[in-house]
Amino acid sequence: MVDLHTQIREQPRDVLKVIARSMDIRANEPEMQAICARYMSQIPLADGGRVLEVGCGNGATTGLLMTHLDPAELVGVDPAPGLIEMAEETFAGEIRASFHAGEAARTEEPDSSFDVVVAHTVYSHLTDPEAALAEAHRVLKPGGRLVIFDGDFATTTVELFAGDPLQAAVGAIIRNMVHAPFVMRHLPTLAAEAGFTVTMVEPHGYVQTASPDYLLSLISRSLDAGVRAGDFGAVLSDGFKREAQRRVENGTFYGAVMFLTLFAEKPIAV
Ligand SMILES: C[S@@+](CC[C@H](N)C(=O)[O-])C[C@H]1O[C@@H](n2cnc3c(N)ncnc32)[C@H](O)[C@@H]1O
Repeated sequence: MVDLHTQIREQPRDVLKVIARSMDIRANEPEMQAICARYMSQIPLADGGRVLEVGCGNGATTGLLMTHLDPAELVGVDPAPGLIEMAEETFAGEIRASFHAGEAARTEEPDSSFDVVVAHTVYSHLTDPEAALAEAHRVLKPGGRLVIFDGDFATTTVELFAGDPLQAAVGAIIRNMVHAPFVMRHLPTLAAEAGFTVTMVEPHGYVQTASPDYLLSLISRSLDAGVRAGDFGAVLSDGFKREAQRRVENGTFYGAVMFLTLFAEKPIAV
């Protein structure tokens, strides 16, 4: 099984709707909103600034970017036309935001045309991050900022004790939902090789206990994908889901992922 985001164009409408719902859940959570406020408020953008959001999906994070960056213009690109349609519907009344189909490595945007390029939980799904970084470098103005936020998904844990069997459900997440669980650890080097000056890598602890809606949705979708792929049967999948739910109900659920933000700048040529 591969991360279905790497084949997002081929996903049927019902799968896109489930992905979109999960993105909406995450973007609306207080924990994630606090993390977004923290990293987005550090992105400098002058009046009249233009922002490119790579991998915008259904626009779940776009509203937060509009609030915190207040750009004159935001362009969102995503390979899935079905998700782009959803973003267009959500932002129908917002003349500063527009969306079109495009890849991180092929945005179809002109050279040196953006002040900021943002990718929010996208690079962990890319098969060729080097090409995406080269494209970000091409479309940024000299002095423009690249901001990449993503999970360091290799840190994902739901373990309550050594050998906790529920941790196997995290294996299903990594196997079915994330193409590159270590990518954030490699990005500083890759960004520097692409010609950026890396200015900061900021960690954000993301912990869910009482209302772990996002992690429950991620576990559930990953287990469903594992069953569809024939990795394991529905009985085991249902058992993991019920155990996760049992922990929520008795107040013992714990889930955590380290997220990281990489801030980089396209140098001004001298
Ligand atoms: C986890 S979702 C995040 C969506 C959105 N950024 C958000 O925060 O709600 C990952 C997104 O990456 C997009 N994606 C997958 N492959 C991509 C590629 N090659 N270039 C750009 N985006 C891609 C998917 O279509 C999906 O919308």
